[in-house]
Amino acid sequence: MQVGIVGLGHMGTALAQGFRHVEEVSLLALSSNPNKASELEISVLSDKQDFVSDKLDALILTVPARVTVKVLEQLVSAGLPSSTIVLSAAANVSAESLHDVAQDNPIYPFIPNIPAAVNAGTTALAVTDYANDEATTAVQTLLESVGDVLVVPEDQLAIAGTVGGCSPAFIDVMMDAMEDAAVSQGLDRQKAADLIASVVMGTAKLAKTSTLSTGDLKGQITSPGGTTIKGVLALDQHGFRHAIHEAILKASGK
Ligand SMILES: NC(=O)c1ccc[n+]([C@@H]2O[C@H](COP(=O)([O-])OP(=O)(O)OC[C@H]3O[C@@H](n4cnc5c(N)ncnc54)[C@H](OP(=O)(O)O)[C@@H]3O)[C@@H](O)[C@H]2O)c1
Repeated sequence: MQVGIVGLGHMGTALAQGFRHVEEVSLLALSSNPNKASELEISVLSDKQDFVSDKLDALILTVPARVTVKVLEQLVSAGLPSSTIVLSAAANVSAESLHDVAQDNPIYPFIPNIPAAVNAGTTALAVTDYANDEATTAVQTLLESVGDVLVVPEDQLAIAGTVGGCSPAFIDVMMDAMEDAAVSQGLDRQKAADLIASVVMGTAKLAKTSTLSTGDLKGQITSPGGTTIKGVLALDQHGFRHAIHEAILKASGK
């Protein structure tokens, strides 16, 4: 599949890093940053007409949300074929507004996240009136090559995207704090970092594969009168849960 990525910022780079490991994907970037593309070892063009003449099967827009519709409009004017599937990673840019400037192309708003770089991403995907079955199958296969895909109604894309797209930063903050606490008690920084990353990965894998709720999984670790439940109470006393609620609500613009 010939895939064009527009914009090699944080998200475009993460997707490119993930797709590089996928044999079926041939990548091309439209970027003002040829150095970044050569670091990623992918082909790059800076001219829109040259880019769209490459008969792309899918186009992924990872430019700032405020310019996404305009950039798509420019690509259509430059000759984007109507068969090219358009994916937009822009938060709060509707399928309808993209359809208005690319009326014949299948359109897919989606919110990926940075772990796509290591093919462990989480993508929320909206399948709207501007999709078709054949393109949806191709999009799901493409996105599943860089991680999990959760299909949601477009009106839930914002919250699914906030939880999926922003949470890696919240988890990084938690891991950084855990690392500092471990170092304060004498553990080497690198060993602390490795230990915490392993714990987060293992905990997530168990939560994902287990039939138990996260509350029940926590119950398996908190024996009566034990040390872990004291730590859990300390988290509650210091407003950890409330802080997480607020982080997600604030990131949602609430
Ligand atoms: N970062 C995330 O975790 C994340 C998660 C989900 C969704 N998103 C969405 O992904 C998109 C990109 O986010 P980002 O964090 O990657 O942003 P970013 O790091 O600022 O990168 C955006 C890239 O877009 C290109 N660009 C910038 N201004 C442009 C303009 N006026 N016209 C055309 N291209 C322009 C540049 O690419 P070149 O230098 O290659 O030209 C720039 O590096 C946004 O719509 C965001 O909502 C981001």
